[in-house]
Amino acid sequence: MSSKDKKRILFVCLGNICRSPAAEGIFRAIVDENGATDRFEIDSAGIGNWHAGQLPDNRMRVHARRRGYDLTHRARQVREADFDDFDLIIGMDSGNISDLRSLAPTPEAMAKIKPMAHWLRSIATRYDYIPDPYYEGAEGFELVLDLLQDACSNLYREMTEDSADTAGGKKSRK
Ligand code: 4NP
Repeated sequence: MSSKDKKRILFVCLGNICRSPAAEGIFRAIVDENGATDRFEIDSAGIGNWHAGQLPDNRMRVHARRRGYDLTHRARQVREADFDDFDLIIGMDSGNISDLRSLAPTPEAMAKIKPMAHWLRSIATRYDYIPDPYYEGAEGFELVLDLLQDACSNLYREMTEDSADTAGGKKSRK
């Protein structure tokens, strides 16, 4: 499958060492488990560049590994080309969303930005964003992983339902 036929998703948080690399790892695992590896391009990035080149925060790596996710992403900052290179740019909280909006070079780029909480279902009543765990304890990291597993599975379902609709020649519901 050529790169232009793939669904290209970029997860974004503030530092790119906790939430967005975890989202990337969880979404990648779902894609791989479903045999859809060649249909997606998945990456993550941070609003800031303080941690560029680093592996995810060790606490996040430990908590994620207990759930079977091996997080090996190297942090990088969001760049203008991301708005061309990805179809969907998903921010973890309202700060990420407003920072992404101020970086978006065109209205088309702006339309690619969505909050991760859009895909929260099972715990959506309590959270409308993915909270920053950096200054939190173990519960903060567990909560982030719970929220991301929920949102990633709903995101995957929505993205693959859309392609099933297209393949069947049905009109999209959106
Ligand atoms: P993240 O968490 O945005 O989920 O990667 C943070 C990581 C680092 C910092 C803030 C949040 N920091 O200030 O360095």
